[in-house]
Amino acid sequence: MKLNRILAIALLFITPLQKIYAQSGVKQTGNVTAVTLSGQQVDITTDNAFIKLTVYSPTIVRVRMDKQKLGDDFSYAVIGTPAKTRVSVDQTADEININTDSLKVNIKKQPFLVTFLTPGGEVINQDEPGLTTSWVNESVTTYKHMQENEHFIGLGEKTGPLDRKGNAYTHWNSDTYAYTTNQDPIYSTIPFYIGVHHQVNYGIFFDNTWQSDFNFGASNNRFSSFGAKGGEMNYYFIYHTHIADIIRSYTSLTGLMKMPPLWSLGYQQNRYSYYPETEVMRIAETLREKKIPADGITLDIHYMDKYKVFTWDESRFPNPTSMTKKLGDMGFKVTLIVDPGVKVEKGYGTYERGVKDDIFAKYPDGSYYTGQVWPGWCHFPDFTNPKGRAFWANELKKYASEGISGIWNDMNEFSTWGQKAPDNILFNYEGKGAAHPQVHNVYGLEMIRSSYEGYKAARENKRPFILTRSGYAGLQRYAAIWTGDNRAENDHMLLGVRLLNSLGLSGVPFSGMDVGGFTGGASPALYARWMQIGAFNPYMRNHSGINSKASEPWAYGEEVLEITRNYINLRYRLLPYLYSSFYEATQNGSPIMRSLTIDYTHDENVYNSLYENQYMFGKAFLVFPFDGVTNYGKLYFPQGKWYNLYNGRVQQGNQKTAIDLGISKLPAYVKESSIIPMQSLVQNTTQTPADTLYLHVYKGSINNKFVYYEDDGASFNYEKGEYYKRDISYNPTKKSISFSRVEGSAKSKFNNIKLILHGFKEDSVPVKINGRASRANKDFQSLMVPISRFDPTGFSNPVEGENVQSIVFRNSSEELTVTYQD
Ligand code: NOJ
Repeated sequence: MKLNRILAIALLFITPLQKIYAQSGVKQTGNVTAVTLSGQQVDITTDNAFIKLTVYSPTIVRVRMDKQKLGDDFSYAVIGTPAKTRVSVDQTADEININTDSLKVNIKKQPFLVTFLTPGGEVINQDEPGLTTSWVNESVTTYKHMQENEHFIGLGEKTGPLDRKGNAYTHWNSDTYAYTTNQDPIYSTIPFYIGVHHQVNYGIFFDNTWQSDFNFGASNNRFSSFGAKGGEMNYYFIYHTHIADIIRSYTSLTGLMKMPPLWSLGYQQNRYSYYPETEVMRIAETLREKKIPADGITLDIHYMDKYKVFTWDESRFPNPTSMTKKLGDMGFKVTLIVDPGVKVEKGYGTYERGVKDDIFAKYPDGSYYTGQVWPGWCHFPDFTNPKGRAFWANELKKYASEGISGIWNDMNEFSTWGQKAPDNILFNYEGKGAAHPQVHNVYGLEMIRSSYEGYKAARENKRPFILTRSGYAGLQRYAAIWTGDNRAENDHMLLGVRLLNSLGLSGVPFSGMDVGGFTGGASPALYARWMQIGAFNPYMRNHSGINSKASEPWAYGEEVLEITRNYINLRYRLLPYLYSSFYEATQNGSPIMRSLTIDYTHDENVYNSLYENQYMFGKAFLVFPFDGVTNYGKLYFPQGKWYNLYNGRVQQGNQKTAIDLGISKLPAYVKESSIIPMQSLVQNTTQTPADTLYLHVYKGSINNKFVYYEDDGASFNYEKGEYYKRDISYNPTKKSISFSRVEGSAKSKFNNIKLILHGFKEDSVPVKINGRASRANKDFQSLMVPISRFDPTGFSNPVEGENVQSIVFRNSSEELTVTYQD
């Protein structure tokens, strides 16, 4: 009998559901048929799948599955490798158990089903029984049981609410001009999210570059799921009791950002587009005249000759090198936009060299793929080819020689007019070969890798500043990201806050949005608000579109100008705090904009849509980003004690309150026990601040430690130990503020420290330094001076009664403890 006759007869005897299943193209993992245990690894064969679990650390377990034998292990995102970890693995007829010191993994065999548990046996995360992992033709999905009241956060640059529950998302990097506030997908892909329920939290990183889909209980009440149109099921499960540690572990896999150049933390002025040179100079001069601190000017596509990347329009910019020099003398750095599309044009150097090096992506018949974008018909460098990256690096040398400091990578989704680039474009993929559907989501990542590595090589010992619109998990290793073409609308500004908070949860600390809005025109109130919020963003750049109204700080009248200047001033005063916060990000992935879910994970209020935009800027400031029209704001204060930034008034936590909102101030509070180093105002980061560091400490009941960090802000010498680092600790029980011995060979910019104590009892703070009364101690330059009116922002009038005292002493590199009575 022919095989299909036998199958047809067999089908008559099985139930209808089984029949449908058999014919549907769906394959479930099925029952375990073989197991091999070896050290930190478990290899499993099931009816339909090949599975490998690998313990990466006590808190990270990787799960790989495929219908066929697992292929070569390769990832553009993951640079971490399994660490030697104490693991015990055993099995019975029914199950396999993997135990690390911090996590248990239980695998049922009939059928295959994975459960992750705490060492105490609480379920953290479990495959949905009956569904587990399945394939529908080539797409693969893992279904996880949705826990009661589970929250889902992160997933990178995704629109919509903070809590993603009830929603589904797709990853397919897309050029989404003027996207709406719940449009999906937009520009970048970070398939990493965090689940929170029953006092536990975990992270799942699904490392698959194909189009992927996440479902957090959208149109179903049973599961959350993640899957992709092709490739392996390949996820990393991360468990920690604190979300900050989940982010740390995630960045141990996908990498950390490097120290940014200090100037990139200053204010950046942008426009699509400033030209010609006289206009650029006018903007720069006006910023200086109006005393708006600024460090960067960014040139958009009109600097190029007919949008051809690596060229200049010579009539607009006759001498780029002298322009960057003039701007440099005024304290400005120039960032240039680059697009990946290389115009097909005989005689155009970049094109000719690309053809000669044969680095453009191709169709299967060997001809170059041609797509249309700004310059017209273009070829696209294959950044997944080491030769393609070398080509790009070589082209960038020109900009390095012209004194350009930053490279802004746009359109790298990659974008072509019409958006739908064909599936059959072929890429080198590190010699392994892959077609567009597998490469699309990492194209931008590999472009910024080329830009970062190329620009680093092109300029001796200078930190590159790379900005990107698109990317994939791991993009933080190379670039800051901005959230593309937003609209000058209130909701968009708040969405921008959520996007940046979500990026922070997803391993990307350095991020920004088009402050002021890219499309349309902001009202003066919206603009003022946005600039205030922008001052509390990791990257602060004002940008607006070609047809939008002018968006420089002076374009909205005197009042708005003053508000804007106040907040940019504050940002510049806060640079020691901000720079140290960035240092922390380089050590453990800790975001600069911290969603409240990081520190108040199990407080239901922080997920409430009323309060979902609130965030911490670094670890000290609680920022309430209201829009520009609301004049009555609802605030939620998590547990603890909070000081009004402007007047020092104390607000108890665990409370909801409402306030009248004026436009001149953005509500912001300081967390109790905070330690905030500040400097005197400078107009740009090439200026040296006055040599006193203002160190604000806010009285509180919790111990706190701030890692204070300085270096030259520009080179890689910090990698050779040229930095200045010390812990500053506040211990309310010991009534002390202590400074550890300085580490590193660099000298501080500050010879003196002015310690400013907030909220400590007036007249009862005689201070001792290293146990000796201040009066008798030569380290003190002046004695305690009670200041009844002190305002860290320097622009508001504090209310009477705020209790602030200060003391100045020499910034020695020795260990130092200041004690007080209270
Ligand atoms: C699209 C980018 O998102 C936008 O910021 C830029 O101004 C335009 N391209 C023109 O280059």
